[in-house]
Amino acid sequence: MSETEVHHAWLPPVAWQPIGSRRTLVVGTGPLVDTVRNEVAQACARYGGEVRTGQPGGGAPDLVLRTDPDPAADGDGYELVRAAGTTTVRSATPAGLLYGLFHVVRLGAAAFGADFPARTESPAARRRMLDHWDNVAVHPVMGQVERGYAGGSLFWRDGALREDLSRVHAYARLLAACGINAVTVNNVNVHAAEARLLTDRLADVAAIATVLRPYGIRVHLSVSFAAPMLVGGLPTADPVDEGVRRWWREAAGRVYAAIADFGGFVVKADSEGQPGPFGYGRSHADGANLLAAALEPFGGVVHWRAFVYNHHQDWRDRATDRARAAYDHFVPLDGRFHANVVLQVKYGPIDFQPREPLSPVIAAMPATSVAVELQVTQEYTGQQRHVCYLAPQWSELLRFPLAGRSVAELAGGGLVAVSNVGDDPFWTGHPLAQANLYAFGRLAWDPGADPGELLDEWISLTFGPDDPALRRTLHLMMDGSWRTYERYTAPLGVGFMVHPGDHYGPAVDGYEYSRWGTYHFADRDGVGVDRTRASGTGFTGQYPAPWSDVYESVWSCPDELLLFFHHVPYGHLLRSGSTVIQHIYDTHFAGAEQAAELVAWWRAVPVGGLVTAELHARVTERLGEQVRCAREWRDQINAYFWRKSGVPDAHGRPVDGS
Ligand code: GCU
Repeated sequence: MSETEVHHAWLPPVAWQPIGSRRTLVVGTGPLVDTVRNEVAQACARYGGEVRTGQPGGGAPDLVLRTDPDPAADGDGYELVRAAGTTTVRSATPAGLLYGLFHVVRLGAAAFGADFPARTESPAARRRMLDHWDNVAVHPVMGQVERGYAGGSLFWRDGALREDLSRVHAYARLLAACGINAVTVNNVNVHAAEARLLTDRLADVAAIATVLRPYGIRVHLSVSFAAPMLVGGLPTADPVDEGVRRWWREAAGRVYAAIADFGGFVVKADSEGQPGPFGYGRSHADGANLLAAALEPFGGVVHWRAFVYNHHQDWRDRATDRARAAYDHFVPLDGRFHANVVLQVKYGPIDFQPREPLSPVIAAMPATSVAVELQVTQEYTGQQRHVCYLAPQWSELLRFPLAGRSVAELAGGGLVAVSNVGDDPFWTGHPLAQANLYAFGRLAWDPGADPGELLDEWISLTFGPDDPALRRTLHLMMDGSWRTYERYTAPLGVGFMVHPGDHYGPAVDGYEYSRWGTYHFADRDGVGVDRTRASGTGFTGQYPAPWSDVYESVWSCPDELLLFFHHVPYGHLLRSGSTVIQHIYDTHFAGAEQAAELVAWWRAVPVGGLVTAELHARVTERLGEQVRCAREWRDQINAYFWRKSGVPDAHGRPVDGS
């Protein structure tokens, strides 16, 4: 691959060899079935196989892909079986056939080995969605892609839709192959140019929808709550104003006239400077329902984000707690949202930190459809310069039993994540960060999937199934990489300690006296945020049993979240038996050392096959930065807490930066 070509990610041509070298019968009609047929035909053209349509003739097929027309059927499921030397995918919908085909691709040669009994697959979440924080016009501070670490946008460039959408086509294939079926094409912070996507620039959105549609992906749009004023010329955006309501109805009507399968709107309202219903004395339910009513006749949904908090806080005021905000704002509104409103809740109460407790909102709104939002783009997890395989974190979160049900079960509104791709030749900046996008899609489909097995799938597809040494190395490098990252960054769940603005690298007091409400309150005696009911902000009281009590007590709170919930002395004994200060030193030495080990592991990987020289070099370059940055984290955190506490390292290592 040359740098001007695009990396194949998890769909290299060779992944299609097992299908492409055999005889496949495709039965069914419709655009998605055409996609299936085209994919198989392309593979056969390369590897000498044969694709047939309709009645079989000339010998039994090796693979049958059959969708039996059932107009009543809904959903993306399929059945997969191998019997008497034929592998069969059967589905009630064309979308199911597409996902079944990609399942066969994942199985590779094993799809055509020994017989296996029928298994039925269907996704846990109906909507498996990626939000792009892409700006149409380059933003003076945030650039083309807000929190993007992989170059420019796949969709937009310098204020316009890209002329060549072939990357979007390749992207659609990759997304379908891991199960994603919805994409938002612009940033949740909707600026002037982006507000017009809803109206006079709708053709741009329709053009993207045309490219994504053959892969079963619907387009969604982030809209500004103030659109009636910004682009509609109305004097108000008040949700109870009849003119405003009409404006939204007509706007939605125009969208559906252009894009019949349009998914819906995503809204960030009354948050970090974005307009919303508060300006008119209305509630979030009033605001969301306004848009829901406009979309309802067409079957569209509103993803209304719960990321709302006072971003003008004063560090002197210990009563205002950003962690409480989403619950305080939204839980009283449970039951008041229209059926086609999905409340989109970030997994944690703060902001995509490497370690946070689950947001209590997820379990507190039984009469509301809730979607859980994750962040594939690595804003706070190394910005695609650090290896940080996030599936173990997501898996832990999705399996977590809040109120007796797992988070995945509670997320009836689906799973959403902020995308990590851009126009970088490797899609994601760090080539190994591709695994996060892949794993997100797979976990949205099956939250019970094992992160290690997903990594295995990704390795087999991306680098081929027959390189055990590479497989071992990538597992060594990636399986524990999220915990490694956690070790050398902010300790024990306290979060942040990053550079204000770009959120990269250590700045222990970067946000300590800022208005954003992300404090750690370290002093000479101790560190952490008291969020207890007994003496703190009362945030623990937002949790259902048993968590409200588990987190309340310093003795039962899990170590990894201790400083999120409690302010404790440096000498406080953790459940692990270590003191807080010694834990900080130990984990920071260990984490930086583990980061350094990555370099030697990767150096031993030979260039060859699907490990191209360019890919190898890119990973090497990123690892160099990770090692440098991890050391910086180690030294700044250790020195900071040594200076505050005056406690030396029990093992005599230098903790003063010397
Ligand atoms: C984070 C991020 C912002 C983003 C915001 C959001 O705060 O730093 O860039 O706009 O999340 O989720 O809306």
